[in-house]
Amino acid sequence: MSDIKKIKNEYLDKLSGDLNIENINQIKSELFGKNGKISNSFKTLSSIPSEERKKFASDLNLMKDELQEKINIKIHELEIKEINTKLKNEKIDITLPERDIIQGKIHPVSQVIDEISSVFSEIGFSVEEGPDVENEHYNFTALNTPDNHPARDMHDTFYLDNKKELLLRTHTSPVQIRTMLKGKPPFKIIAPGRTYRSDSDQTHAPMFHQVEGLHIDKNINMGHLKGCLNYFIKSFFEVDKIKMRFRPSHFPFTEPSAEVDIGYELKDGKIVIGEGDKWLEILGCGMVHPNVLRNVQINPDKYQGYAFGIGIDRLAMLKYGINDLRAFFETDYRWLNHFGFDPLDVPSNYRGLSR
Ligand code: DAH
Repeated sequence: MSDIKKIKNEYLDKLSGDLNIENINQIKSELFGKNGKISNSFKTLSSIPSEERKKFASDLNLMKDELQEKINIKIHELEIKEINTKLKNEKIDITLPERDIIQGKIHPVSQVIDEISSVFSEIGFSVEEGPDVENEHYNFTALNTPDNHPARDMHDTFYLDNKKELLLRTHTSPVQIRTMLKGKPPFKIIAPGRTYRSDSDQTHAPMFHQVEGLHIDKNINMGHLKGCLNYFIKSFFEVDKIKMRFRPSHFPFTEPSAEVDIGYELKDGKIVIGEGDKWLEILGCGMVHPNVLRNVQINPDKYQGYAFGIGIDRLAMLKYGINDLRAFFETDYRWLNHFGFDPLDVPSNYRGLSR
């Protein structure tokens, strides 16, 4: 038998077996690689006597084509096999019942922070943030509340070290200091966030939320403060008229200082804001004390302004008829499902939080 025939039979035999892609590549390189059997046979052409050369070359070409075709068929078969196993394994069982979509809810406090931020942004306030772990200086001293000031005791502070230098901020007012230290006036900011005091009953939780406001510019007066708060309360509670009163008060960081009450009445056991003869306290405010401005290197003869601090949880309770503050922080799914807000794009098969 000629060499060509031998090679052909040997490889046709190999190619008829059960092969994987590695085996096929191996065969390809044995035949057609640089030193492959077919490549080497072609190299011998010149040494073959000329009368036999033509036949040899034609036999060689035929064998090459035949083996190449056999290899192609094998590869094609393997591809089909692979697709079929994939199809089999990835088959979807359309008889399975659909899964419930569990849709989260937006917590009333988050919702109200968004609403507050959006009302204030309409009148030019931007939003600032500060850390929950604050130092004593920003929380008290820079806000004109020195070491022995009685207001410190009223804050029921959670201190984090024995030296009483680090604490959980008792109000959002330190964000005023941080904002004024890092920029130059004018300032027009609000700062919503968590605050902490050692206090717990139906209307007080050890963690609660405030939003601080600060507006510093040339020639800002108490009229601006009143206008701003009046606008805010009307927009927030979505009412045209609001009864509002400023009661003289005292905060170390403002002079003069006031607390603001809004009028309400009870209709069928529900609070209606803006009417009636009852009063509810919702915030503290005042004109920023000159000492506070001096503490952040602002000349109080050039710049003045107002500040306010609003209890967010109280606003959320009033607006959405929630009567126990502690429920806000108990992470009870049923409560959240009832009082929470739907995010946008609620899917049509939404069935709430219960399975
Ligand atoms: N920080 C005060 C508190 O927690 C609230 C407050 C009152 C903030 C008056 C102010 C302000 O900015 O001007 O009770």
